[in-house]
Amino acid sequence: MSALSKHHQEEPQSLTLAFRRAAQGDMPRIMEIFRSSFEGQVPPEQYKNYYFTFAQMIENPKYHFNVASLNKKMVGFSIVDNVRERNAAILDVIGVDPTVQGQGLGKALLQEAEKAAANFHKPKLKLEVRENNTSAIGFYKKQGYHPVKVIKNYYMWDGINAIVMEKQVATAAQDNTKKPSRLPFFRR
Ligand SMILES: CC(C)(COP(=O)(O)OP(=O)(O)OC[C@H]1O[C@@H](n2cnc3c(N)ncnc32)[C@H](O)[C@@H]1OP(=O)(O)O)[C@@H](O)C(=O)NCCC(=O)NCCS
Repeated sequence: MSALSKHHQEEPQSLTLAFRRAAQGDMPRIMEIFRSSFEGQVPPEQYKNYYFTFAQMIENPKYHFNVASLNKKMVGFSIVDNVRERNAAILDVIGVDPTVQGQGLGKALLQEAEKAAANFHKPKLKLEVRENNTSAIGFYKKQGYHPVKVIKNYYMWDGINAIVMEKQVATAAQDNTKKPSRLPFFRR
């Protein structure tokens, strides 16, 4: 049994999941989550580049930089990009603290990212995932994403191919008619 669900059994009303836009003061914790969740995917010499890129994205309204907190502790983040493509928003990054992965947080963050894409008036959300990241590919498929193409040699530091996946998202107007999503463990 996971630590989180054990906690849930002992204090069923105590877990609250909240989302908000990232601020500069969040950068140390964002990088902590990034380094731990992307360990083995991103070489440490790239961390500095990611730090500056993330810090700029926080300030830019063309990106939706979202952080998820569980009982006020930041446990994940996602970045949705309204810049790169005309007809799709791009999920640039999604990461959940490895100590609480597999508990529904990634799914909840992805649903928030889909809302952000709809709010950008984009009909779909697209992403690139490393071909050998079978766990994330499984996660995305479960959430309704399908592969649309392979980009050879995409990641500059190791030449791994990227799988491009996408999903149609509800437009802002359709979104109002949807019931709120429910999480198994968390109050929102
Ligand atoms: C990918 C990631 C964000 C998923 O977050 P998570 O909190 O672990 O995932 P969740 O617990 O929300 O999983 C949600 C659903 O996906 C499913 N899922 C998760 N991993 C899966 C896998 N390897 N294969 C199939 N399904 C999977 C879960 O069973 C769950 O199914 P449900 O819809 O029935 O509830 C997280 O594991 C992570 O940060 N990974 C490292 C960083 C990374 O690789 N990011 C993606 C780069 S493109």
